[in-house]
Amino acid sequence: MTLLPFADLADFTRENEPMAQHTSFRVGGPVAYFIEPRTWDEFRAVYPRSQDAGLPIRVLGRGSNILVTDGPHPWVVVSTRRLHEIRREGNLISAGAGVSLPKLVAMAESCGLGGLEPLAGIPGSVGGAVAMNAGGRHGCVADRFVGGMVVAPGHMPRWAEHGEMEFDYRYSIVPKTHLLLLSATFELDLAAPRGLQAQRRTILAEKRATQPMKDRSAGCVFKNPPNLSAGKLIDQAGLKGTHVRGAAVSHKHANFIVNTGNATAADVLQLIDIVVQRVRDKFQVTLELELEIWDDQERK
Ligand code: EPU
Repeated sequence: MTLLPFADLADFTRENEPMAQHTSFRVGGPVAYFIEPRTWDEFRAVYPRSQDAGLPIRVLGRGSNILVTDGPHPWVVVSTRRLHEIRREGNLISAGAGVSLPKLVAMAESCGLGGLEPLAGIPGSVGGAVAMNAGGRHGCVADRFVGGMVVAPGHMPRWAEHGEMEFDYRYSIVPKTHLLLLSATFELDLAAPRGLQAQRRTILAEKRATQPMKDRSAGCVFKNPPNLSAGKLIDQAGLKGTHVRGAAVSHKHANFIVNTGNATAADVLQLIDIVVQRVRDKFQVTLELELEIWDDQERK
């Protein structure tokens, strides 16, 4: 492999980069090229070069909701991590796609801007959070997102409104289009930082009590089926603690699979299949993945 397709982006391109270093699961094989552009222009430049080289592109936020298979993979992974600007204008706050969501929540709070507290404790990047409409019981990204800058391959960056995202439960159109989200703008309410801090702490405490936040995982593995709870179903199927080598169903919350040390993606996938099968056998409900699987088959 040679840096040739990305020779002019060499300062921030690495070859044969293990994805286990870039995912919260600490799982995932090497990818051909791993690129961390610093500007929108550098981002745009990656697309034509990858296309010319015939290499598929994947956009990575902070890697907290994906399972990357064991590889090696002939992909170009472009990370948003260095798009990390945050700007405030009145009660609007705009963040680059690579800003960490916890950092944005804390920043809004310290500016006396409320509305993002329901996102407290959700790991990941702003771009990833918008793409999957991340959220929890108290609210989701779509509640405060007003629009964002996006770019399609070969085009100039443009503003996209909330409506264009077609948000739904853990859903937006971003993953299935070739739109790349560069930044997101949220409309917030003026509020006292103290009160916001108290709300954020309550939500965080709730999560710490019920979720394995310190373990290596990719958050909830399955979506909640309509009017049901995936965690409860998996728990009631007696699956807590079930494991395939280093991948185990969490004892704390059954909708989490944790990497207890040396799990491979194959272990996690095998465990996912066991969980789906057992829940289907017991409750006649087919669980759907919430976490995104990155493999060579473009599985959805
Ligand atoms: N439950 C069990 N056993 C378990 C886990 C849960 O019986 O092992 C029961 C709980 O007691 C409760 C019900 O299932 O009665 C729902 O559980 P919980 O309140 O923990 O919420 P959840 O529906 O499992 C959702 C989101 C989480 C988010 C929390 C809190 C989904 C798939 N999950 O979980 O999001 O943090 O609400 O707001 O929508 C994520 O997206 O990665 C994620 C973890």
